[in-house]
Amino acid sequence: MKALVKQKAEPGLWLVDVPEPVVGPGEVKIRVLRTGICGTDLHIRKYDDWAKSTLTLPLIVGHEFSGQVVEVAEGVEDIQVGDLVSGEGHIVCGKCRNCMAGRRHLCINTVGLGVNRDGAFAEYVTLPASNVWVHRIPVDPDIAAIFDPFGNAVHTALSFPMVGEDVLVTGAGPIGLMAAAVATHVGARNVMITDVSPERLDLAGKLGVSLALNVAQSSIADGVKQLGMREGFDVGLEMSGHPQAMRDMIANMTHGGRIAMLGLPSEEFAIDWSTVVTSMITIKGIYGREMYETWYNMSVLLEKGLDLSPVITDRFSYRDFDAAFDTAASGRTGKVILDWSDAAPRA
Ligand SMILES: NC(=O)c1ccc[n+]([C@@H]2O[C@H](COP(=O)([O-])OP(=O)(O)OC[C@H]3O[C@@H](n4cnc5c(N)ncnc54)[C@H](O)[C@@H]3O)[C@@H](O)[C@H]2O)c1
Ligand SMILES: [Zn+2]
Ligand SMILES: [Zn+2]
Repeated sequence: MKALVKQKAEPGLWLVDVPEPVVGPGEVKIRVLRTGICGTDLHIRKYDDWAKSTLTLPLIVGHEFSGQVVEVAEGVEDIQVGDLVSGEGHIVCGKCRNCMAGRRHLCINTVGLGVNRDGAFAEYVTLPASNVWVHRIPVDPDIAAIFDPFGNAVHTALSFPMVGEDVLVTGAGPIGLMAAAVATHVGARNVMITDVSPERLDLAGKLGVSLALNVAQSSIADGVKQLGMREGFDVGLEMSGHPQAMRDMIANMTHGGRIAMLGLPSEEFAIDWSTVVTSMITIKGIYGREMYETWYNMSVLLEKGLDLSPVITDRFSYRDFDAAFDTAASGRTGKVILDWSDAAPRA
């Protein structure tokens, strides 16, 4: 089968023929239809320090995908050949304290699809049945392919009560855009999203936010005035990974404000801890998705009319992966999708 492989310890990815994966005990084999390009995949293509220290080569990359089940191992129940599915890319051990308590998103032995084991940028991928989300509510295969980052957005956005609250989202990348859409959909009062990319702020406008603010031109305090807010933000969703965004957020929270932080900073940075203390701000780190509460939330949000279609801005054949990766790396687009559906006859 065709697969996008990190073959050599240098920048680049290679589209090559590799053997099809074999279904192990308790596993499911999936014909991949669409994949989403994530920041992680860009790091792997670039082969930066993180990639160098994390990866064992060769590796099939990719973790955001949708596909159709073509085979299930004996004993796997509730998943049928032909089902449209997405994959939870965090494979957990099932044995540590958190797993045993049902808190699988907190597993201390998490293995990442397309990072620590062969991924989904291929014609076929295998996964443990417990990592497969069957779309019982009909969904577009493009949207199904981005359930992983959509789940990051939903996990973060639903970390704290939102109804009637004033919400600040820093970073209008694909995940920040989706988080802002979720906040609006579930009944926040004001949703302000910030970025320095005019293209991404335009996209945010299409998602119905109260204010899409370019922090290269205006301060968050200006935006607060524009919205007629009298006090600071109740809830902050940090979705940029940039130190200044976090500092600006802390400076604009109300007393008792709550921050959910998904953005991954590339290094340590200082914040104004005395404001965190005297404003009694809660900061919660978010990683991945809750299994499978977040997935349930995602399916139901879409069923109730949440429209993510503006978030997908570019579609490419898997054959044009280099152009697709360049587009994703530009930092000006929403989600970039690769189409694998014509790679081989469907199941
Ligand atoms: N914790 C997790 O499980 C998890 C999972 C996936 C991604 N992430 C992280 O979440 C973040 C969002 O992911 P993404 O794919 O949308 O990333 P992205 O890099 O596409 O988007 C980040 C955005 O932040 C903007 N930005 C830069 N400086 C800013 C500032 N001062 N204020 C506001 N915005 C600013 C950038 O212009 C960019 O549009 C990234 O940091 C990513 O590494 C975390
Ligand atoms: Zn991802
Ligand atoms: Zn575990």
